[in-house]
Amino acid sequence: MTGDYKIIDHSFDVVVVGAGGAGLRATFGMAAAGLSTACLSKVFPTRSHTVAAQGGMSAALGNMGEDDWRFHMYDTVKGSDWLGDQDSIEYMCRNAPAAVYELEHYGVPFSRTEEGKIYQRAFGGMTTHYGEGQALRTCAAADRTGHAILHTLYQQALKHEAQFFIEFFALDLIMEDGECRGVIAIDMATGFIHRYRAKQVVLATGGYGRAYFSCTSAHTCTGDGNAMVLRAGLPLQDMEFVQFHPTGIYGAGCLITEGARGEGGYLTNSEGERFMERYAPNAKDLASRDVVSRSMTIEINEGRGVGPEADHIYLHLEHLGADLLEDRLPGISESAKIFAGVDVTKDPIPVLPTVHYNMGGIPTNYHGEVVTLKDGNPDAVVPGLMAIGEAACVSVHGANRLGSNSLLDLIVFGRAAALRAKETIDPEAPIPSISADAGEATIARLDALRNSTGSRRTSEIRLEMQRTMQAHCAVFRTGESMDEGVKKMAATAASFADVGIEDRGLIWNTDLIETLELENLLTQAVVTMESAANRDESRGAHARDDIPDRDDENWMKHTLAWCDDNDKTTIDYRPVHDYTMTDDVEYIKPKPRVY
Ligand code: FUM
Repeated sequence: MTGDYKIIDHSFDVVVVGAGGAGLRATFGMAAAGLSTACLSKVFPTRSHTVAAQGGMSAALGNMGEDDWRFHMYDTVKGSDWLGDQDSIEYMCRNAPAAVYELEHYGVPFSRTEEGKIYQRAFGGMTTHYGEGQALRTCAAADRTGHAILHTLYQQALKHEAQFFIEFFALDLIMEDGECRGVIAIDMATGFIHRYRAKQVVLATGGYGRAYFSCTSAHTCTGDGNAMVLRAGLPLQDMEFVQFHPTGIYGAGCLITEGARGEGGYLTNSEGERFMERYAPNAKDLASRDVVSRSMTIEINEGRGVGPEADHIYLHLEHLGADLLEDRLPGISESAKIFAGVDVTKDPIPVLPTVHYNMGGIPTNYHGEVVTLKDGNPDAVVPGLMAIGEAACVSVHGANRLGSNSLLDLIVFGRAAALRAKETIDPEAPIPSISADAGEATIARLDALRNSTGSRRTSEIRLEMQRTMQAHCAVFRTGESMDEGVKKMAATAASFADVGIEDRGLIWNTDLIETLELENLLTQAVVTMESAANRDESRGAHARDDIPDRDDENWMKHTLAWCDDNDKTTIDYRPVHDYTMTDDVEYIKPKPRVY
């Protein structure tokens, strides 16, 4: 089925899919290691979603008070509600300071203290002395840290002569004999199909926030790599854990950084009460995101929301003063003005918990290698395939990610993947061959959608999916509501067989690309709903009204979910790694939740 389609073949040592923070860090690391490296991106690299990251990147530098990577590790394990793999968490936290200094040397313009050191702010769940004090650990470039990092990384990637394929949409992995041998993509500008043969494919395709109605994620966050993995017959892990950020702008969903509370902002209800003091007497407004989002939702559900519909909460920054707001929080001051019509020096910002991050994704080890459950081995490496960043589930965030651990994850594991590739790939070795018809089924899928004449529009199916996910896989969940969500999602996903699009062209066919993205979102929404309905406990971001307790005896395990071509999900499990990477630190035993 290659009739209408021009096919162009390439070969590289490594092909990275995605040019956000993780993808770019891996790309230039691999190119610098002497590997021929291609990077495919569906948007111009500096438009990748990392550009929207605001508050900062955690690392125990101790620039503004005592700190230690072991404190950071403890907070991350606790924040994950003990679902994080502690070997990976140790790897991330102990490598964090070096990762930040490396970025500084590459040129990231971090904000500075009076002494000229990297400025660090408070973020939720980040403590000193294992929960005793509040750590100042989040390294910031005002409230535009992701922007600063992304631009610097792109410059580094260009310097190291990685080859970019920009505005290319990746369609599928090329899998042969259980190995990943490449990837197939469409150049959106020409409609030409590009097949890449490679020794290693690295998926850095981000999260799938757009499966929900209200999210802080860009419209491009459709989890394309995750869906490619499911189509390749591999599982995704812990998809039930979806993070709601407490402070999305009411109505618009845009992010107001947690750094705003880190700088001293606070939340109030309709009675003017700083209600977080009741829910989390120690951490208050800087409790972890799952706790703050749940508390806000309870306030609204119990009738103490603000506004005419009593359906949101106020975030106050007025007391911080115009100078601090201009210096440390200029970006969100502008967003509040544009999207809520609020002058933050005078009035509170209307906010609501909004989908922000996917803890689940493609299971990997801390080298970035994709793993699966095979012949009883839960850590079996899939040859030729890596995943990093939000697309991956390493799992350092477990059931709930701490704010500012995401930029860290991108950089540390982007770098780890490059180090591993340097160690394992011989640039002199031949690039594995692929069969002559590799990718034919993918082109047939593309062609069927391009010529689809069904009665349902892409936008209609997408909205139905987004509303179902928002209603049935939300901040609070019950078995009954999730079971209903499973049925609704199955019906919506099945209706995709009746999709119809208008544009039959190949040049910049956004109708087609949006439909391919929807197909990707649907399969992830199905496994998210099924994985959520399957987990009979509350843990981290998965909070069940009907089963409020964590159940370590039965549920201290990662969910694995496979999805076949008919959207039928199969579930199995991998054990949580109850060991550390080195003997320098001991396994941190689960404790009851205390806020
Ligand atoms: O609130 C924020 O600035 C977001 C940071 C994060 O998700 O890590």
